[in-house]
Amino acid sequence: MSEVKPDKTESRRGFLRKLTGWFLGVGVVAGSWPFLRALIPNVHYEPPKRFKVGMPETFTPGVHFLDEHRLFLFRKDNAFHAVSGVCTHLGCTVKFSPFKQAKEMTVRKLTYSSAGEFHCACHGSRFHDEGTNFAGPAPRPLKWFQLELSPEDGQLVVDVSQEVDREFRLVV
Ligand code: FES
Repeated sequence: MSEVKPDKTESRRGFLRKLTGWFLGVGVVAGSWPFLRALIPNVHYEPPKRFKVGMPETFTPGVHFLDEHRLFLFRKDNAFHAVSGVCTHLGCTVKFSPFKQAKEMTVRKLTYSSAGEFHCACHGSRFHDEGTNFAGPAPRPLKWFQLELSPEDGQLVVDVSQEVDREFRLVV
């Protein structure tokens, strides 16, 4: 029985074809790299997690919406706290709807004087002003963020990378 030997010319041709294909592929990627690189920005525009919002005395007692940070700053006497304005359903910005008169409320075992509610116009979620969701599809309360005074100039500093509980107050 005779043994069939592989055709060396054919296998060399196959190898050369593969090599050419590989070089062409590398050439196309290398040639288009400057174009692809131009699509990737050098700067990341993620907003800072810690920022100053102003001197405490510039905020009158009540609720202030800081639209560029989507944040509500509450002041009662000399106590401050910061509540996120981002709805926990799909991230729309909630609006504060004040009551005509403050009401005493008990929410999740916390009794406090409530000044109003947060409403989300996107899908109808509602939150007490201490953040707890009570209507609509929002699955969680609004976040509360760490608030402190800047040691440099005494401005209020919000740190959205640190959540605090709803009993947190910064007294100045
Ligand atoms: S995003 Fe607020 S209820 Fe849907």
